[in-house]
Amino acid sequence: MPSPMTPYPRRQPVSFALEPGAADARPAFAFGPEGWACDGVPLAELARRFGTPLYCYSRARLVANYRRLAAAFPAPCVVCYSVKANPNLTLLRELAALGAGFDVVSAGELERVLRAVGSASRTVFAGVGKTPEALRAALATDLFMLNVESIGELRQVLDLARGRGLPLPVAVRVNPDVDPHTHRFITTGKRENKFGIERAQFSEALELLRGADGVRLAGLHAHIGSQVESARPYAESVERLLELVRAAREAGFAPEWVNAGGGFALPYDGRDVPAFEDYAAALRPALEAEGLKLVLEIGRAIVGDAGGLVTRVLYEKRPGDRRLLVTDAGMNDLLRPALYGAWHRIWPVGRPPAESSTSAAGAAEPAGADPLTPADVAGPICESSDYFAFERDLPSVEPGECLLIFDAGAYGMSMASQYNSHPRPAEVLVDDGEARLIRRRETFEDLVEAEEEV
Ligand code: LLP
Repeated sequence: MPSPMTPYPRRQPVSFALEPGAADARPAFAFGPEGWACDGVPLAELARRFGTPLYCYSRARLVANYRRLAAAFPAPCVVCYSVKANPNLTLLRELAALGAGFDVVSAGELERVLRAVGSASRTVFAGVGKTPEALRAALATDLFMLNVESIGELRQVLDLARGRGLPLPVAVRVNPDVDPHTHRFITTGKRENKFGIERAQFSEALELLRGADGVRLAGLHAHIGSQVESARPYAESVERLLELVRAAREAGFAPEWVNAGGGFALPYDGRDVPAFEDYAAALRPALEAEGLKLVLEIGRAIVGDAGGLVTRVLYEKRPGDRRLLVTDAGMNDLLRPALYGAWHRIWPVGRPPAESSTSAAGAAEPAGADPLTPADVAGPICESSDYFAFERDLPSVEPGECLLIFDAGAYGMSMASQYNSHPRPAEVLVDDGEARLIRRRETFEDLVEAEEEV
């Protein structure tokens, strides 16, 4: 856990650079006449109406993100949305309507896709520990592709699929041993990571697949990590996969697909990250030259900056010489800062952005009037790691005011828990000035239901 003395950035970026050519992609949150708003709906109003903590998503931003991604990776590329980033059924339906495929990692996520869209024909199924039940469930669908992660799993799949009328398309997930230079907890494609099979084992996988009944080799898969802030590791990963594609072809197989995984980065603290086109330039040419089609599994870059967490300040404390804001949201609602030391922009919903004299709507007062002082922001959970920020430059904030934690659309609600018996927050989707509840706030009854039933 990061100590309170960790030198995280105190200054907050005023605005985020939009990707080149992304004139339509307005940020999910903007400052207007009634404070910070999501697609025109003031967050203070949403907090009053739906309570806090509250996850709030902009449909316009979600749609714009997906469309920009799909434009950088046009068909025959298949862009699968990584359900783990945010599995809300309404968001899955919105993305399916735009043509997205899905990436799932459990029977539960597969079931969500089936519930939301009725078919798995654009769904890839990854996961290092698929149970026999999950594999059976997958085999009973029209799954687009199963990413097989170990020799043991391949044997299991071959057993279960034997005699299947339409052979199950599988992609062998290979560990490309590429360093994505991201947080060690979200690095997946290095040799010591638990994911995929080693390249040296690929020939063994091919031997098992030779003449298989009910399974066919459709492609290869690698996922190097998440929040990958350079396009270069993708080119390295694809290069390694192509060596194996050639080996497969020499052995008489005809893989058509390369699944390059996910991991495109968000500029959480305003830093430069590659544009979708930069990732495309690293990935597409080599594959297209080999006549291969690309699958992507993208979560964060689709939903991350489309959502935020609205939380109310309960108390201001002065431990030692520090300024501490205690909020009603905690690590139970948004785990990323406590788990990875992740940095999220935080700002009071009623205050204009610092260092800018007017809002996008031209209505803000000069921000300079209210000096910024460093504050820690912590949740109510009985854990010393339950902090959202340390020494963050913030204006004065009164108890009762709300804060917005930006860029919490991905791995926010999906990693929320009921720790300390806090019911999980509500989720709303704002569409064209209208807010729609897409998950009701949990109640105490939700917390105890499964215990009372036994
Ligand atoms: N494909 C596979 C096989 C994955 O394991 C993941 C993410 C993705 C695709 C999607 O990656 P994305 O495009 O969202 O980066 N909880 C962490 C992130 C964990 C990512 C797990 N796997 C966080 O909050 O940063």
